Amino acid sequence: MIETDRLVLRPAVERDHPAVAAMNADPQVGYWLGGARDAAASALFLERCAEHIARHGFGFWVVERKADRQVIGMTGLWHAPDNLPEAGKVEVGWRFAAEAWGQGYATEAGRAALAHGFKVLNLAEILAWTARPNLKSQAVMRRIGMVPAPDRDFDHPSLAADDPLRPHVVFVARPQDEGYFRGR
Ligand SMILES: CC(C)(COP(=O)(O)OP(=O)(O)OC[C@H]1O[C@@H](n2cnc3c(N)ncnc32)[C@H](O)[C@@H]1OP(=O)(O)O)[C@@H](O)C(=O)NCCC(=O)NCCS
Repeated sequence: MIETDRLVLRPAVERDHPAVAAMNADPQVGYWLGGARDAAASALFLERCAEHIARHGFGFWVVERKADRQVIGMTGLWHAPDNLPEAGKVEVGWRFAAEAWGQGYATEAGRAALAHGFKVLNLAEILAWTARPNLKSQAVMRRIGMVPAPDRDFDHPSLAADDPLRPHVVFVARPQDEGYFRGR
C-alpha cells in the first residue's frame, strides 16, 4: 500500500469492481485506452492487474480517496507488453473517473508511483507513453518531473495507420533527476 496526503494506492479487491467498471465503461476514459470496456472486460482487466501484482509485487493499483474511501481511479507501474518497442521496461500510467479530473489526483498518485519505483524497487528508469493528442496525460507526466524522450517515440502497432491516436510520445524519469520530488 502507498499513502499520499489525499490518496491510498493498493491492489484492487472484489468490492472495487463496480467503481473500476464504471470508469472503464466511460467513453471519455476509454477513448484514450482502446475503447470503453463492458463489465466483463473490466473484470478481466482487473484479473490481469492482480496477476501482475502477484508475480512482480507491483502493478496497476486502485486509487482510493481518503476523504470518502471512494475508488476514483487507478495508477501504477507495470512491465510494458511484448508488442511494444519498450517491451519489458517499467511504465507508469493512470486513469481516473471523469468526476475526479482537474484536482491533481493523477499528479499526486503518479508522483507516489515514481517514488515507489525508485526508492523501493530501485529502478534505474521509468517510462510513460501516450497518444500524441493526449495532452492531459502528458501534462501529468511533466508535472511529476518526467521529460520527453522524442528519440523513443513510436507508432502504436495495434492501431491503424490513419488512427490519430497511433503516434505515441515517450517520457522518461530517472532517480537522479529527482524532478518527481519537487512538486512542480
Ligand atoms: C490522464 C488523466 C488521468 C489526467 O487527469 P487530470 O485531472 O488532468 O490530472 P490531475 O489529476 O493531475 O489534475 C490536474 C488538473 O488539476 C488541477 N489541480 C487542482 N489541484 C491540483 C493539485 N493539488 N495538484 C496538481 N494539479 C491540481 C491542475 O491545475 C490541472 O488542471 P488543468 O487540467 O485545468 O490544467 C485523465 O484525463 C484521464 O483519466 N484520462 C483518461 C485516461 C487516460 O488518458 N489515461 C492515460 C493514458 S496514457
